[in-house]
Amino acid sequence: MIEVSHLTKVYPGRRNTEPVLAVDDLSLEVERGHVMGLIGPSGSGKSTLGRCLTLLERPTSGTITVDGVELTGLGGAQLRQARRAIGMIFQAFNLMDARSALGNVELPLQIAGVAAGERRRRAMDLLERVGLAEKASVHPRHLSGGQQQRVAIARALVNRPSVLISDESTSALDHANTQAIIALLRDLTDELGLTTVLISHQLEVVRDICDEVAVLDTGRIVRTAVRDEQHVLRYTNGEAA
Ligand SMILES: Nc1ncnc2c1ncn2[C@@H]1O[C@H](COP(=O)(O)OP(=O)(O)O)[C@@H](O)[C@H]1O
Ligand SMILES: [Mg+2]
Repeated sequence: MIEVSHLTKVYPGRRNTEPVLAVDDLSLEVERGHVMGLIGPSGSGKSTLGRCLTLLERPTSGTITVDGVELTGLGGAQLRQARRAIGMIFQAFNLMDARSALGNVELPLQIAGVAAGERRRRAMDLLERVGLAEKASVHPRHLSGGQQQRVAIARALVNRPSVLISDESTSALDHANTQAIIALLRDLTDELGLTTVLISHQLEVVRDICDEVAVLDTGRIVRTAVRDEQHVLRYTNGEAA
């Protein structure tokens, strides 16, 4: 479970630029096993919030707690350890072309010092889960965009994180691949018991698979929607999302 409490992120101004209040006193909870959609226009603070959740970005103030561990209170080795519990995928797949699909998925385990046999077993298990087992030896440039994102998803999950953050991970894909990847993220969340945050600038992309949605504007949550007993996603004013 993810708990964000009074999170604020200010980017300091540089010469000729004013400071930017990118996330403004934002509080949010995502239950274990849930998929939360985080949507909002460009510049509304979605990516900043996503990066703060992994502590790639240090919040200016506020706390982030994942599975009971306050990440914002950690430093050094403890923080690196806690970060392994969070997987992240982006619009850009950032795969290494010198490595095969399997080699890319193995990389985080190699960095973590996992032995070769175990590494290969776990990476193959993830490639199977994302439907790419038969492409294990293929290099990224010979894979389609959708297949490359599947490799990136496998890589993000190979350290067995409890949280997955997806920042516009389908924005470079066509409609069919977008739908397939979104459905896969829902299935993986259920199978692996993840807590997932899906960042998108379009509600339509995430609407069908989210348990709840938060709409961001200028660093604040301006609307929230949850699924009712009829499985309809509704805003707090009763309107269907
Ligand atoms: N590294 C940065 N330095 C300064 N300002 C930034 C930085 N990253 C983002 N911003 C600013 O913070 C605000 C929120 O940006 P971002 O989180 O990228 O929004 P979104 O992902 O919703 O498009 C924007 O005004 C953006 O220009
Ligand atoms: Mg963004």
